[in-house]
Amino acid sequence: MDRFNERVEFDVPMAGHTSLRVGGPADALATPADTYELTGLLAMLIKTGVPWFVLGGGTNLLVRDSGIRGVVISLRPGFSDIAAVDSDQDAVAVHAGAGARLSALCRYALANNLAGMNFALGIPGSVGGAVIMNAGTENGAIESVLSSIEVLHVPDQKEIICRRALLFNYRGLVWDSSIIAKSGYEPIVLAASFELAPADPRTQAAEAETLRARRKQRQPAGFSAGCVFKNPSADAPAGYLIDQAGLKGTRIGDAQVSEVHANFIVNLGRAGATDILRLMDIVREKVLHEYGVELEPEIRTVGESKEK
Ligand code: EPU
Repeated sequence: MDRFNERVEFDVPMAGHTSLRVGGPADALATPADTYELTGLLAMLIKTGVPWFVLGGGTNLLVRDSGIRGVVISLRPGFSDIAAVDSDQDAVAVHAGAGARLSALCRYALANNLAGMNFALGIPGSVGGAVIMNAGTENGAIESVLSSIEVLHVPDQKEIICRRALLFNYRGLVWDSSIIAKSGYEPIVLAASFELAPADPRTQAAEAETLRARRKQRQPAGFSAGCVFKNPSADAPAGYLIDQAGLKGTRIGDAQVSEVHANFIVNLGRAGATDILRLMDIVREKVLHEYGVELEPEIRTVGESKEK
């Protein structure tokens, strides 16, 4: 690890790297500066049999209380550039590193009078995480503005994959088995290109303001990981079912079903992953019991629990 100098830290509490502010320590956190360092790191990890986990923005993630064994790899700030790379009259291609914040991409689009990204205003997280999760709202999803992604087949093969060769579902990118077969590992998303369109700045800004205000009114501020469960169907959203089941405000320790939006769990300060997982179980059981609907988590849970 010597060659990475200050870009590797050891025993790093993941609570400091997740929007829920929850999670025990990762054995190590590496922030490679570029592809050369990333491929060197991966080769070393494969050789030594050390597992790794690629962190996005940590905004859709629940890390268990005993943390993560192995190396957490963060592509921020090394892979965070955003730039227009090509344009014609009707379209502008914008390239964003996986470590860039989705909010920075939205701001870039607004500042450059480009339409297409407003749907993502207020969605936290990184561009890489947004691609992997097919982040979206009722106003659109990543899959509809994406033109290609650049991936790294572990440990060192780069490839650009066009949108039409990618399969997305609701809140996820589904890797084709032939892509995984190339290296035996999930590829690492290094960057994404988006096809945006020139737009009238005033219309853009007005739309952005409306969407921002709506989100602010409907969703809680504070520490959370966004919506906890996927919507089981369009006519019975998880937030509606959890609300109707009377669960708003339910607490386990400092983990609480938000009073503002029932599909959010907020950390009021000192919640642990165990509290949040127990609260998720309570919500799931009550909604199953009352409505016969099985809620599936949208947030991803990783790491080791204290209780074994
Ligand atoms: N509702 C309630 N009580 C609540 C919350 C919602 O009755 O506490 C009702 C609302 O009145 C509405 C329906 O449930 O009729 C849907 O609520 P909302 O419009 O807030 O949308 P959502 O389906 O809960 C989805 C995304 C959000 C995204 C919003 C806004 C999912 C799981 N959630 O929420 O994404 O911000 O639309 O576009 O797809 C996220 O992914 O983390 C996330 C929060």
